[in-house]
Amino acid sequence: MKLTEIAVESLQQVIQELSQSEINLLMEKPKYAQHGDLSFPCFSLAKIKKQPPPKIAIEIASQLKDEFIEKAEAVGPYVNIFFKKDKVQQHVVKNIMDQTNNYGNLNIGKQETVVLDLSSPNIAKPFSMGHLRSTVIGNSIANILEKCGYNTVRINYLGDWGTQFGKLIAAYIKWGDDETIQRSPIPELLKLYVRFHEEAAIDPSLEDEGRLWFKKLEDGEERAVALWKWFREESLNEFNKIYQLLGVTFDSNQGEAFYNDKMEKVVSLLAEKGLLEESNGAKVIQMDDSTSLPPCLIKKSDGATLYATRDLAAALYRKEMYHFSKALYIVGQEQTIHFQQIKAVLKKAGFEWSEEMYHISFGLLLKDGKKMSTRKGKIVLLEQVIEEAIQLAKQNIENKNPNLQNKLEVARQVGVGSIIFHDLKNYRLHSVEFSLEDMLKFEGETGPYVQYTYARAKSILRKGEWSVQEMKEGLNDSYSWELTKLLNVYPQIIQKAINNFDPSTIAKHIIDVCQSFNSWYAQEKFLVVDEKRNARLSLVYSTSIVIKESLYLLGMDAPEEM
Ligand code: ARG
Repeated sequence: MKLTEIAVESLQQVIQELSQSEINLLMEKPKYAQHGDLSFPCFSLAKIKKQPPPKIAIEIASQLKDEFIEKAEAVGPYVNIFFKKDKVQQHVVKNIMDQTNNYGNLNIGKQETVVLDLSSPNIAKPFSMGHLRSTVIGNSIANILEKCGYNTVRINYLGDWGTQFGKLIAAYIKWGDDETIQRSPIPELLKLYVRFHEEAAIDPSLEDEGRLWFKKLEDGEERAVALWKWFREESLNEFNKIYQLLGVTFDSNQGEAFYNDKMEKVVSLLAEKGLLEESNGAKVIQMDDSTSLPPCLIKKSDGATLYATRDLAAALYRKEMYHFSKALYIVGQEQTIHFQQIKAVLKKAGFEWSEEMYHISFGLLLKDGKKMSTRKGKIVLLEQVIEEAIQLAKQNIENKNPNLQNKLEVARQVGVGSIIFHDLKNYRLHSVEFSLEDMLKFEGETGPYVQYTYARAKSILRKGEWSVQEMKEGLNDSYSWELTKLLNVYPQIIQKAINNFDPSTIAKHIIDVCQSFNSWYAQEKFLVVDEKRNARLSLVYSTSIVIKESLYLLGMDAPEEM
């Protein structure tokens, strides 16, 4: 139920001069609880009626009526509206208990398909902090889309093709060693790659060798392909460890290489449409002047295709394969121009659906204010970072609750959850400062705080040996009322999150819910046996449902005990 709508509708009954939407625009949320839940200022109406605002306020207040409205008070030029706490609460709680985890579901997607391009790390390179952000943000947006009635396809568009593989093969043949690579594939392959660049700075002919190997790879030469396959497999094994820890799965791992044999078709399609231009032997597409975008490079002078060519092929393939209504690319903001070009090219080629392609960009993960880099040997191996978070979570749990069952699994849920929550509580375009210590705190705006609040709610219900039953009576105190109002706006929070593809809306709301719950908790005796016991425990239960669902939407687990 929307409290604002109830207030607006009943106000409209007594105000003929203003429409509902005009009244809605004027409504205010008072700062202090003693001024009611909502407030209507009478200044505009006073001007129309040419009467003093306080007089009008008194008139309206005396006439306002609704089954959910307790009273309306005129205070100066304002009409302050108070709702019937217990009645609203009964309604809200019943709603949540009936729907459980479906509470807040919206049917705006109508089972249309959305494809999400997320994570997409590069083979033979470390899984970077940017890829972590893409994975976590993309997975959460997919969950939210599903809650809104969309079908989703999560695609891990692996960076498994491109000239860098030619360089890597050349480097491997010169300096590589099988055993060391097998022992720790990603750092070793990265070393080879870095060495290639160092030596190529002195001896530029190496670049030619790299190009040659890539050409061989594109032509399907046996040795090149075998090496490429091996690098890919070793890398995927490493990446999968991370996905397993994060609890993220994909519907497709079709990376850039998958589009190899689909590229010629795209190039000829663009040629047919008369979009391709020669430029120093290369093939490019000019962008319209109004866009001020640089030309999009489609084919190099040596005939090699490019990142953009592959993305064009991928977009066409996905449209044909999944008939998506929207395609989201969860990729860092440094690729903004690239995605603008892709969209523009498809638009020029007459594909109107390109309007429904969205680059969901995000900011950097920072360490002490600087970009966390994977270059020049300064690698932060993500798996180690996650393991460290899990270790720290384990220590915290050991201090707080040494007798907890399945400590290891809970530590994983809390450690991983802390990283995810720390990322998602900020609007995605903001950069995030990465601090394990901060994100693992049990108080403040952290994942463990939210998970702990959930476990606390569940523990109250266990101790109270409560089971679901009808709530015949509501509560009237101001703490439970604040909490009720927060639970009540949940569907609107989901709507806002999907409108902006922004999980932080949900993360921030659930922090508010937890804070409100904990303030109530601090001054309420839940288990006392009196006529309000069932009302209290019903509200605790409803809160636990909303917290758990929010955590789920963010991609986090909700341990029952911590
Ligand atoms: N592999 C790329 C990188 O790490 C990201 C790919 C993003 N997705 C895409 N369709 N281009 O930078």
